[in-house]
Amino acid sequence: MHVTLPRRLRRPGVSPERGLSSGGGAGRDLEARLGEAISLTRAIGLVVVHGEALELVKPRPATLLGSGKVDALKEIVAEREIVVMVVDAVLSPIQQRNLERTLGCKVIDRTGLILEIFGARARTREGRLQVELASLNYRKSRLVRSWTHLERQRGGFGFLGGPGETQIEADRRQIRERIAKLKLELETVVKTRALHRQARRRVPYPIVALVGYTNAGKSTLFNRLTGATVDARDALFATLDPTMRGVDLPSGRRIILSDTVGFVSDLPHDLVAAFRATLEEVIEADVILHVRDIAHPDSAAQLIDVETVLGELGLGERLDAVMIEVLNKIDQLAPERRAALLSPKPNPVPKRVAISALTGEGLAALLAEIDAMLAAGRASIVLGVAPADGASLAWLYRNGEVLARSEGEEVIALTMRLAPDLLERALSRPGIRRLPDSTAADRAAE
Ligand code: GTP
Repeated sequence: MHVTLPRRLRRPGVSPERGLSSGGGAGRDLEARLGEAISLTRAIGLVVVHGEALELVKPRPATLLGSGKVDALKEIVAEREIVVMVVDAVLSPIQQRNLERTLGCKVIDRTGLILEIFGARARTREGRLQVELASLNYRKSRLVRSWTHLERQRGGFGFLGGPGETQIEADRRQIRERIAKLKLELETVVKTRALHRQARRRVPYPIVALVGYTNAGKSTLFNRLTGATVDARDALFATLDPTMRGVDLPSGRRIILSDTVGFVSDLPHDLVAAFRATLEEVIEADVILHVRDIAHPDSAAQLIDVETVLGELGLGERLDAVMIEVLNKIDQLAPERRAALLSPKPNPVPKRVAISALTGEGLAALLAEIDAMLAAGRASIVLGVAPADGASLAWLYRNGEVLARSEGEEVIALTMRLAPDLLERALSRPGIRRLPDSTAADRAAE
């Protein structure tokens, strides 16, 4: 187990120091982990004045860290007028309170930090409601004297806000009431969302979802492929809520590309639940592009993180069939490694394509792979419709992808691709029936 301790001061102009590190940690590069914690911290607008990684030999129930370490930190906090200390680990409410009292500054843990970021970046109504609910549940157990204020003071959820005094009981009641209200609001929003999803299913375009570790390059790739300008700055979680845009593949097939929230390691479980709505988009996607920063020292551990979460969402078995691993940032690799990735083994499972979203290298191969996966995923079938049944014809064109059409006197034969649930619905319509695959329309499509 290890803990990283980036600490910061809300005082502009103080340059960050390089962190110290010792030992390894849970298969991750300690420096990289510290770097991530510092990036996350900067993402909520704090100035980092000190970062330090250290190995925890024996976690203490009262303060997590040993007393010698706590004393040393206390000195640094006082000397450098540090306002907030972020511990990149999960702290119990008691550990957090004890550290705050001893150190004389605010202490937030990894969950608190991620909630701050989610709070600041959530764009949709549902996103905000989900984050607020998660953060209230988190805070409910942590109502202690140093921070009891329910008011949001700076756009986040008040973890770093002003110290409210006492009123703990009143605040608890207020939180309970707010949670009940939020749950009701969420129900309504989720219902509306289900309707939207149904409406979207009627769109005959397959959905291709981008997922990946934070900073892997999802937004950059999204922008490249769509020509859109979604936030692609070097800040984490620039893309909390999904963004969708149409893209035409080389075959002429149109897809909807969907950009989603970035993953982080150790995403607390209740946050995964809170963001289920965002991730549901991924569950329903026809193709999942898992964007990986292949130049990152922790690339392998990040892969496990993302796949674990996707597995928890119920994608486990289906994953290999719908996922393409996009090995991004190959421009940063040494020539030999890059060449090896660009000529991969035949038929890898899952499918893999090496690219640079920055230079555009490999993007044509990626689009071709998406095309191939979509073509393989939905076999074509032939459906017959009476020529007079304009409504059924229109329904099929709206819901599926028509590959070929052959007009007979009694029947119009459409060779098409249709999602399985839609095929079922199509065949339940009186005007539509299945024809043998060897009809003229099918031959015409070959
Ligand atoms: P979140 O929104 O935090 O989930 O990040 P993201 O996955 O959307 O990453 P984003 O596209 O914002 O890129 C993160 C950083 O990596 C940016 O500074 C990009 O310029 C950079 N980047 C993205 N793709 C590449 C690439 O192919 N090569 C290099 N060298 N840098 C890249």
